[in-house]
Amino acid sequence: MSQPSYAAEFKSITKSFGPVEVLHGVSFGILAGEVQALIGENGAGKSTLMKILGGYQPPTSGELIIAGQPATLHSSRDAEARGVVLIHQEFNLADDLTVAQNIFLGREIGGALLNDAAMNREAGAALLRLGVTLDPRSRVRNLSVPQKQLVEIAKALARQARVLIMDEPTAALTVRETEVLFGLIRQLRSEGVTILYISHKLEEVKALADTVTVLRDGAVVQTGPAAELTPHQMANLMVGRELEDMFPVKGQPTGQELLHVEDLSVPGWARGITFTLRAGEVLGLAGLVGSGRTELFEGLLGLRPRTLGKVRIAGKAVRLNSPQDAARAGLVYLSEDRKGKGLLVDFKLRPNLTLMTLEHYAHPLLNVKAEQVALTKAVGDYGIRSGRLDVPASALSGGNQQKLALARILEVNPQVIVLDEPTRGVDVGAKREIYLLIHQLAASGKGVIVVSSELAELLGLCQRLLVVREGQIVGELSGAEMNEQEVIQYATGLKVASAQPAHRESA
Ligand SMILES: Nc1ncnc2c1ncn2[C@@H]1O[C@H](COP(=O)(O)OP(=O)(O)OP(=O)(O)O)[C@@H](O)[C@H]1O
Ligand SMILES: [Mg+2]
Repeated sequence: MSQPSYAAEFKSITKSFGPVEVLHGVSFGILAGEVQALIGENGAGKSTLMKILGGYQPPTSGELIIAGQPATLHSSRDAEARGVVLIHQEFNLADDLTVAQNIFLGREIGGALLNDAAMNREAGAALLRLGVTLDPRSRVRNLSVPQKQLVEIAKALARQARVLIMDEPTAALTVRETEVLFGLIRQLRSEGVTILYISHKLEEVKALADTVTVLRDGAVVQTGPAAELTPHQMANLMVGRELEDMFPVKGQPTGQELLHVEDLSVPGWARGITFTLRAGEVLGLAGLVGSGRTELFEGLLGLRPRTLGKVRIAGKAVRLNSPQDAARAGLVYLSEDRKGKGLLVDFKLRPNLTLMTLEHYAHPLLNVKAEQVALTKAVGDYGIRSGRLDVPASALSGGNQQKLALARILEVNPQVIVLDEPTRGVDVGAKREIYLLIHQLAASGKGVIVVSSELAELLGLCQRLLVVREGQIVGELSGAEMNEQEVIQYATGLKVASAQPAHRESA
């Protein structure tokens, strides 16, 4: 009886896509009733391995053991029949269906005749368990990214999983939602549910996991008790070398005003927003998720109904009615919703990169060669890791899709760059590269605005922070005032500055 009791076990699993092998003989077990974290760089193979366990794709070779039995899974239903449920990293929801319909998708109550009332009731209960107040009858299309994430989790909970796989569940969640989720994970563990947890947030991994398994380049480099590793050691194991400081030394704004927004209101989301960004500046927008930061920029770009006093870019009054207008005027926006609004995931990498700048490549005929050169350069510049380049964007790992999205908006050589959650789903090493890139953009005289739910990131990167609460700028912090306590006090309404929006006129 010395054999440990594994809820699931991988034995020499390999996986190839075409000629490229991405998992090379992976073997490890997940103890029944534990929380095991799976960490590794973008593209290390975490999601691929979990899709194998979740029944979404077969291994090329090797064996999967579930609850002591060899398992050949032909579909996610096969996996569910064995109690294994995967919560996808990239959402897998039907936009046109309601929350409740999504939660029960494929196993609707009431046979042919759907019983909406019962589904809504049960969906409501599953959501309540997550501490979310969300109408089960709302259409998924209308939900925010964090809300979609919570619906994905509720969907898995409603399936009574014995082994629950969560692929970066907190990438889009606030601190509070994350805490609720952690409470739930601990409770599920005490009920004997086995949890496999993928995250790039190593502090979370430290707080939550019993065991940590590190994947690097498709192979296991270590599996062992979480208690024996610090987050810093985890990061080093992931990248295979000693990581340096995360944040570059901050630069100074050089003076010239690059962006001035006056009196922007987005009905239901933001009102009276006035601010200025200077050349060389990295400006952060802090606030709780749902405070209206994303909607504010969507309004500015004309993606939502809005009223707008004035906008100046590099001193020139501009009209912004679409992201294309904005890009032409020198302002680009990286959406937090990479799959919904950022990339065309079914298209290949090349059109994804150059779509915004098609004009450049379309003279006189579409210049495929120039596009190809641009792609090769972008892959190098942004460290996009992809086995081959002629694949659709959906074949990239989550973090590498993010790098592609970033490369794409920078293709137009903008003056003002707005990045909404730029490091979501990005591994520690790549995160540092993105920070460095932001720093370089500012140092070269551009202005960068960062919206992030990671406070440490804002504090480490930005020279100045605007705190948004319920659609208004409630505080402006720089220098020594720019610390965690101050931000949280403003963000939660514990501290209220003057009712005036910050920076009414540029200095
Ligand atoms: N359908 C596919 N076709 C071709 N290559 C693929 C496909 N799916 C994944 N890959 C490749 O397999 C490798 C592992 O990807 P995977 O998504 O498992 O990484 P990951 O560890 O989950 O990364 P991340 O942290 O960025 O989510 C990557 O190189 C990726 O490009
Ligand atoms: Mg992944």
